[in-house]
Amino acid sequence: MKDIYFTTPIYYVNAEPHIGHAYTTIVADVLNRFYKLAGYQTFFLTGTDEHGDKVAQAARAAGETPQAYADRISNLFRMLWPTLNITHDRFIRTTEEAHKRVVQLILQKVYDAGDIYFGEYGGHYCRGCERFLTEKELTDAKCPDHGTEPQFIMEKNYFFRMSKYQDWLIDHIKSHPDFIRPERYRNEVLAFLQDPLEDLCISRPKSRLLWGIPLPFDGDYVTYVWFDALINYLTGVDYPDGQRFGKFWPVCQHLIAKDILKPHGIYWPTMLKAAGIPLYHHLNVHGYWIVSESKMSKSRGNIVKPLELMDKYGLDAFRYFLLREMAFGLDSTFSESALIGRINADLANDLGNLVSRTLTMAELYLQGEIPRAGALEEKDRELGAFALQTAEETERRFGELSFHRALILIWELINLANKYIDGMAPWTLAKDPGQAERLHAVLYQLLEVLRFIAVLISPFMPRTAEKIQTQLGIADFSGQILASLKEWGGLAPGGKVRKGEALFPRIEEKPKGEKKEKMETPPLITMEEFQKMDLRVGKVLAAENIKKSDKLLKLRVDIGEERTVVAGIARHYKPEDLVGKTIILLANLQPTKLMGVESQGMLLAAEGADGVIVATFDKEAKAGSKVR
Ligand code: MSP
Repeated sequence: MKDIYFTTPIYYVNAEPHIGHAYTTIVADVLNRFYKLAGYQTFFLTGTDEHGDKVAQAARAAGETPQAYADRISNLFRMLWPTLNITHDRFIRTTEEAHKRVVQLILQKVYDAGDIYFGEYGGHYCRGCERFLTEKELTDAKCPDHGTEPQFIMEKNYFFRMSKYQDWLIDHIKSHPDFIRPERYRNEVLAFLQDPLEDLCISRPKSRLLWGIPLPFDGDYVTYVWFDALINYLTGVDYPDGQRFGKFWPVCQHLIAKDILKPHGIYWPTMLKAAGIPLYHHLNVHGYWIVSESKMSKSRGNIVKPLELMDKYGLDAFRYFLLREMAFGLDSTFSESALIGRINADLANDLGNLVSRTLTMAELYLQGEIPRAGALEEKDRELGAFALQTAEETERRFGELSFHRALILIWELINLANKYIDGMAPWTLAKDPGQAERLHAVLYQLLEVLRFIAVLISPFMPRTAEKIQTQLGIADFSGQILASLKEWGGLAPGGKVRKGEALFPRIEEKPKGEKKEKMETPPLITMEEFQKMDLRVGKVLAAENIKKSDKLLKLRVDIGEERTVVAGIARHYKPEDLVGKTIILLANLQPTKLMGVESQGMLLAAEGADGVIVATFDKEAKAGSKVR
């Protein structure tokens, strides 16, 4: 049996989990589930990174001890993963005794080999990155990731002779083209290695930081958090003597985002080399989820919380969206409207409809019994062949980490099946008793295609896959593996199918503040029609809230004469913000009463990202003049 080992970064406990963390962990879960389906024995590690400056500071800010603080936040991550249907085998914490022992063991090994020395160093230290940045890494003297100016720190410390391994690392990366992938990140590391590699400062004096693992050879120092954290991947499989280490370490695949490429692509392989440990197999690097035009972070205040989305839209839809929307390796923009778009189009329309139509027909025309396929026609065979090919190609896409392409392929199969229904029109066949055999053949093809689809989507949407399998009358899911998609016809005739509830109800509502995906184009109007509108420059003379309404404001507006206008902008503007503003008023709108107040016109406004924006002029305009 083949083995494979997946890791996620261990997340800092200085912040609560957000969709960035959820994405990497869901990707690892999708991979882990897929390779299980492919017959591999897998091991999946995730956990939390709990030492270092950042965590000590966050604990101080929260008024807790570092340990109590780390316990609390680590628990949030630990509790989150099962709710996202993550099936990791071990959750590691760097504050575990087992991990501390392994870190000290490796430090001692490297020290004894002469690759750790004591020296003095001054450098630009970024607290956010928890590492010294080189001059070249700075943009306008600031850390490009955190936008903050690093602090210049000069102190005596222990150093790892990383520079010694520079040429060896370049050779290794060049001779193992997929050691770091996708290629853009391999190139990035190679580009970085064109400049001389500095030695790595691997300690922090206790006078500055207590929250870390003590160096085994000097009690006045603790271990630098990255040297400590990277080693979790070894502790996780019981290095040095555990069976898992022998079995899984040689097939280790790390998953990370590009923010931590350097520690994983440079520090980590050289550390392993110095400790005499073979290297990991692959470093798989993805891009960022961008929210409101920047990477998510606490300081930018653009955090998207996975649980909230899951509660609102359902777990499988959320998992599907993350994997479908991001091309692994590139950045992607997160928006709720894109999520809703995918739910409605791909899940409700394409997949949901296919399942519901097929099961409805099976109940209606076959009393829920899986028929014998009988004689097949060309179109039937085409559908079967396409399904077999999709299963094969999906496996290839997984090998390339091209999850979105795997999903595109699976959706091609779904779409083909939907078209097949339209083309075969089983409802017509059902009317003619002479066509019973044809009807059986068509419905068998459709039910079997659903079996294929359920297996193929199961790593991405495990619950949905089980729901489909249950509807198909499959009680034991353990046989529904990739090997069962090597041949067409796995669904046994005679079995009973039963239609379930809609898998993905359509979402009608549009998220607050977001624009519609596509603007509907209204019909054209004539100049005459436009001129019927009496648009006027208005000056807001007074504004007040309307009692009993949290939406409406009552305005007094000068448009050459005085008008009372009721506007639904109370959630976005305070009355005092409006007084004195020059606005545009549709002055000949039929008056209407709102909350007992007669509105004699309507002000123009746009829907912005954060709510309603009232239209104004960019230069002084005279109250009462016409707007054209
Ligand atoms: N503790 C270190 C990792 C040590 S691993 C030995 C760390 N922790 S972190 O909490 O900052 O997590 C960083 C990781 O979280 C990224 O590499 C990525 O996996 C995930 N993401 C955090 N923000 C992200 C986005 N905006 N987009 C995508 N993934 C992101 O670094």
